[in-house]
Amino acid sequence: MKKNDIIRGHDECAAEYDQQVREYKCFAHEALFGLNFEYVNPHERLLDLGIGTGLGSLPFARAGLEVFGIDGSIEMLKICKSKDFAKDLKQFDLRNTPLPYSDGFFDHVISCGVFHFFGNLEPMFKEVSRIIKPGGIFAFTVLAQTPEKEEKAVSHNPQGYSEIQSDWGVTVFMHSNRYIERLLQGCGFDKLKEFKFLVWSGQEDIDDLYYAYVAQRTVI
Ligand SMILES: C[S@@+](CC[C@H](N)C(=O)[O-])C[C@H]1O[C@@H](n2cnc3c(N)ncnc32)[C@H](O)[C@@H]1O
Repeated sequence: MKKNDIIRGHDECAAEYDQQVREYKCFAHEALFGLNFEYVNPHERLLDLGIGTGLGSLPFARAGLEVFGIDGSIEMLKICKSKDFAKDLKQFDLRNTPLPYSDGFFDHVISCGVFHFFGNLEPMFKEVSRIIKPGGIFAFTVLAQTPEKEEKAVSHNPQGYSEIQSDWGVTVFMHSNRYIERLLQGCGFDKLKEFKFLVWSGQEDIDDLYYAYVAQRTVI
């Protein structure tokens, strides 16, 4: 997979993305919002990493938060902008660090349906730790490692993630629970919640297992 194939793929499917999410009966966005609702307040600043068309952060905007978004796909961002709820949107390849925000700028950071495009999540988690305020919430989803999928993996990283060819033709990564927990701890987060859910893979009768995590930046 070349450098920007994932972003290019999202540019190409942007116009149909929201409808596809409904067809796949994917309610990850609603689940993530529900898991976080008790921790967020109106007027707080929330960053959505890989905001796409905004499905994950729109409910937070409706709850009165100021939403900031960042994504590599200009076409996904255009659709997000047309919904007119985000305070600021940036086009940026998340493989690059540092992220274009100052230390402690955000109250909360979310990322829905994005981290399975990344193997090593450490640079991203370190950056989130830098830009989030102490006590802030970091909530995200990952594709889970399951024994059946592990058999089909094309590479295994001993740190706790593996690479697999997805049913929709792109390379994605599965992360182990142990890997995520170690990383959260190492980057100054306490895990508050962990939630398993299934999303249809696009193949008849086959679902993919995902985890949603909610963590809190340690108050020093
Ligand atoms: C499956 S979509 C999820 C979008 C949105 N978060 C949601 O829940 O509907 C994945 C998003 O991640 C973005 N993305 C993937 N890799 C990226 C990268 N390296 N840099 C920036 N954005 C990236 C894509 O452009 C796309 O908008």
